[in-house]
Amino acid sequence: MNKYYDVIIVGAGVIGCSIAYQLTKRKKKVLVLDKGKIGGKASSAAAGMLGVHTEFDGDEDLLKAATKSRDMFPALLQELNEISGMDVEFIQNGMLKLAFTESDQRALRMLSAVSKDAEWIPEEEVSRLEPRLSIRNMGALYAGKDGNVSARKLTLSLSSSAVRLGAEIKEFSPVLGFLQDRGKCHGVRTQHETYHSSEVIVAGGAWSRAILSTAGVDISGYPVKGECFSVMLESPPIKRTIFTEGCYLVPKQGNHLLVGATEHPYTFDESVTLGGISRLMNKAIELLPDLAYGHWEKAWAGVRPKTERTHPLIGRVPGWEGLSVASGHYRNGILLSPLTGILMADLMDGNEITSLFRLGGKNERMFEK
Ligand code: FAD
Ligand code: GLY
Repeated sequence: MNKYYDVIIVGAGVIGCSIAYQLTKRKKKVLVLDKGKIGGKASSAAAGMLGVHTEFDGDEDLLKAATKSRDMFPALLQELNEISGMDVEFIQNGMLKLAFTESDQRALRMLSAVSKDAEWIPEEEVSRLEPRLSIRNMGALYAGKDGNVSARKLTLSLSSSAVRLGAEIKEFSPVLGFLQDRGKCHGVRTQHETYHSSEVIVAGGAWSRAILSTAGVDISGYPVKGECFSVMLESPPIKRTIFTEGCYLVPKQGNHLLVGATEHPYTFDESVTLGGISRLMNKAIELLPDLAYGHWEKAWAGVRPKTERTHPLIGRVPGWEGLSVASGHYRNGILLSPLTGILMADLMDGNEITSLFRLGGKNERMFEK
């Protein structure tokens, strides 16, 4: 059966759903296909931190992009709430990234110098803000505007809003290949159907490389598994998110506290290991002894989509007409989802992406020729 769309998006994670939402706002006829359930992969595993300063190693392009994307959340969430009626549990609780060595201190002080909204604070101030933290530290970067959301609910509110505005989303419909003719992509094929479109966007997270390989395109990148767990406490022992290398503590609504996350590169395995969770537990209790009184809730794992560099891959696939990619958001896909949605919608409207990520130049080098 032949069906025609302006844009087909492969993957209904937070990135695919954010793009679908922005495109339907611009009256495009959109189809999203996912091999499983909406938001069933990394986008449900994420801690949902909107941490502009925590995971970019001082990359100024990404810092600017992340700040811009984070600042889009309040207005976007209000829009999504009006359309879908969903609350995504946004809290702007601030974030402390702790320093433990002189080199951490130097790096965080430098970051505070280039950032408009994060400041360096000494250890006494960290203790004043979060008196229940036990571990000795050498100060922290404090980002008062950072916050967090429920990543799963954000993805669902984007998808449900896109559907209300006219998008079609088909779950359990793995894309097996592209319809192509002399360098022009004009649709996709699943096991039982072909779908035609002017444009196809691959937003398949850690699976984007495999999806694009069916068109003979090789993108660099690999999966990085992460495990997390959550506990419930009588009262919240911390107000702000505490970020350290290898372990973060994220206060969620309703006295839930999320602890993440491990890093295991080059695996698509989504099982939870005792070794991973016990390392996280030990580190978390060392940081915040009250956690020992937390009531166990659950543990889970997901697979982050990493490129060879920290930058996501966003833009047209070189050498192709009608084929684009938005993937490789690694540890920051939730944070970067609002901006990615807008940039891809702009691209579909004929405006090249040149700002912020400076993706044109950097992307080109990430595709293997
Ligand atoms: P995904 O959510 O993985 O979606 C890709 C989709 O493509 C999937 O639904 C999949 O089923 C589908 N797909 C794959 N192959 C096919 C096919 N052939 N046909 C059709 N569909 C297909 N980011 C933050 O900003 N803040 C955080 O605090 C944070 N914490 C994290 C904690 C953990 C433990 C993990 C694992 C990640 C975390 N991230 C965080 C990163 C974030 O989750 C990802 O960057 C983001 O979810 C990527 O979204 P995506 O839509 O690209 O990928
Ligand atoms: N951004 C948190 C993580 O990827 O674990």
